[in-house]
Amino acid sequence: MNTAEIEQEFTQKIDAANDLGSLDTIRVEALGKKGRITELMKGLGKLDPDQRKEQAVVFNDLKNGVMAKLESRQSILKKAAMAERLKAEKIDITLDVRPERKGTIHPITQTMDEMIAIFADMGFSIHDGPDIEDDFHNFTALNFPPKHPAREMHDTFYLPDVEGAEGDAAKRLLRTHTSTCQIRAMLDQKPPLRKIVMGRTYRSDYDITHTPMFHQLEGMVIDKETNMGHLKGCLKTFCEKFFGVEDLPVRFRPSFFPFTEPSAEMDIGCSRSKGALKIGAGDDWLEILGCGMVHPNVLKNVGIDPDVYQGFAFGMGIERVAMLKYGIPDLRTFFEGDTRWNAHYGHDPLNKPNLATGS
Ligand code: PHE
Repeated sequence: MNTAEIEQEFTQKIDAANDLGSLDTIRVEALGKKGRITELMKGLGKLDPDQRKEQAVVFNDLKNGVMAKLESRQSILKKAAMAERLKAEKIDITLDVRPERKGTIHPITQTMDEMIAIFADMGFSIHDGPDIEDDFHNFTALNFPPKHPAREMHDTFYLPDVEGAEGDAAKRLLRTHTSTCQIRAMLDQKPPLRKIVMGRTYRSDYDITHTPMFHQLEGMVIDKETNMGHLKGCLKTFCEKFFGVEDLPVRFRPSFFPFTEPSAEMDIGCSRSKGALKIGAGDDWLEILGCGMVHPNVLKNVGIDPDVYQGFAFGMGIERVAMLKYGIPDLRTFFEGDTRWNAHYGHDPLNKPNLATGS
């Protein structure tokens, strides 16, 4: 068989190969250790020098020709294999998330987002502080006198004293309220200030309306002309937007907090007819938050002149208002991690609170 015939035979086989596997078999058959062309090359040694030279050129041409055909067929088959794979592995990203697999936003997160949307619109920015605090930020700077009974009212979780430190700085605790961040905000930045703080707080208590860890929203405004009227307007506006009720009746009852003077508790109007709680005009009241004008001693404690600046502050339980808004009866269930509860009370992740949709 001459080389032209051999080349033609392999060319036909190569053209007929439909996958990379069979192409490789042909390669071995032609150019492998015991391949037809390899064997021909091996035979060169037996020829005399002149013939050998001549034949070597012919065999090399044959070898190169077959190799080139193998390569070009291989690249065609590779492309075809890739196209096939891309077709088979195609993902339709336009398909909706399967509803049974969809995660939900926890009511606490949702409520916080709603609060941010409303207060941001009123010009407040967010401040932050640590969960593990010291006695100074939690009590002393907030005008709790030493050994004052109000310290006990908070059922504080204390941590072991810091070694080597003395006095207030040695006493570590889990913050009992977010009012600690009033102090932090005033020490960090100069007035005028409009701050909200949201975060975890801790008190040793456990029943249907108390858990050892819960969340608070704190708000504070410090400016030169701030008065009780601003406090009332701000909180009434917040509650109307948060609960989605226009002209919500509110009332302020005198109260006591060491860090505000005067202090008040704010109630919102509601009705409780036939056992159903409805927020809005009615003949009943519901306590919602604590508030007051920042005590001059607190301002002095952070180096702000109370004759120049005044301010108001307020604090509310985030779980409490979430329970009222979303009809959740038991506080403890917020933290049980029961996926059925999460699916029921959780929110659609795409449903981001904003003022345009009434939060
Ligand atoms: N820190 C108070 C509490 O936890 C709430 C409060 C905040 C009251 C700010 C007045 C002003 O009960």
